Amino acid sequence: MLAPMEGVTDFHMRRILTSVYAYDRCVTEFIRITNNLYPDRVFLKCCPELETGGMTDTGVPVYAQLLGTDHHYITLNAQRLVELGAPGIDLNFGCPAKTVNRHGGGSSLLRTPDRVISIVDAVRNSVDPSIPVTAKIRLGFDNSDNLMQIATGIEAAGATELCVHARTRLDGYKPPAHWSEVKQVRDALSIPVTVNGEIWNDRDASMAQSDSECFDLMLGRGALAMPDLARQIRSDVNSTTCTKLVWLDVLELLEQLLQTAVDLPARYAGNRTKQWLCYLIREYAGARELFPRIKRLRDIDTMAEQIRLQRKLCIAGDVPGQADTVKEVEAVERIDAAQVMLSV
Ligand SMILES: Cc1cc2nc3c(=O)[nH]c(=O)nc-3n(C[C@H](O)[C@H](O)[C@H](O)COP(=O)(O)O)c2cc1C
Repeated sequence: MLAPMEGVTDFHMRRILTSVYAYDRCVTEFIRITNNLYPDRVFLKCCPELETGGMTDTGVPVYAQLLGTDHHYITLNAQRLVELGAPGIDLNFGCPAKTVNRHGGGSSLLRTPDRVISIVDAVRNSVDPSIPVTAKIRLGFDNSDNLMQIATGIEAAGATELCVHARTRLDGYKPPAHWSEVKQVRDALSIPVTVNGEIWNDRDASMAQSDSECFDLMLGRGALAMPDLARQIRSDVNSTTCTKLVWLDVLELLEQLLQTAVDLPARYAGNRTKQWLCYLIREYAGARELFPRIKRLRDIDTMAEQIRLQRKLCIAGDVPGQADTVKEVEAVERIDAAQVMLSV
């Protein structure tokens, strides 16, 4: 599964990443519910796939993610999303953002297991039983003391699946992810349990699977750094050889994302592309070369020119391959950490 990432995996990014690999599922960025039923346009903006049967154009179902504390309004919004064609509802109990947590939402709910469970229960009972209701949690808020109570309660409340980001709110996005802590959840529950966190390559994927004993994986930043990560993992599982996406292919994807920015205000237009490039730096030397050339550009036509120039250089064989030195990787990790701070 492709992880929901607010400000990153919007409709365009979901379309691009699912064109590389048809994930089993995507989840929208969170829709924060306070005390209203949103007009349809809000849902359609966050999840344009609702107009195409809740699927991406490669047929990947997109569940709508809700975040909030008020049962009444969460259920009203969930019901409307289902009427509009959402193939599933995902409930966010993992968001670490201070503004969200200050209002009692996201990961701060993990301090009060009963509240998490009652939200799942309310949503489960408000939508048709054929519609999956899934939950995404972290190991806990500042420790994992409530983990089992929350996980078993979520299952008892009728959730169809549970995804565990194997870190607490206190851990933030700091490596490592504690995959082995998810095993106790896997052992205790009958519903599918997905492990998430810090999966950057196929080796991490198989370690996450063996430590947690979960088969299902959710990929976040790793899928941005390596757009064909899911394909690599699957080919490993199926023991088939799989050609790696080369920088030239990725440049084409970057160009596609840039083209979607034409309707955005000039100030923001290129930011999405720069943001993605920051993640790609981790995996592609070509991204490290391109980033300094475009980081100060605001005009998307000039950015597109730079990308096209890189493609030409790449075709001529003048752009290097993968990240190799420890120093480079460390620099990239610093950029990555900064990205997370900026985005969440
Ligand atoms: C920029 C950013 C935005 C995120 N937004 C969401 C979100 O909207 N909903 C959610 O459940 N998780 C969100 N997350 C958490 C990811 O879904 C995922 O759990 C986390 O990044 C750990 O996976 P990873 O180590 O593979 O990135 C976000 C993470 C990042 C980095």
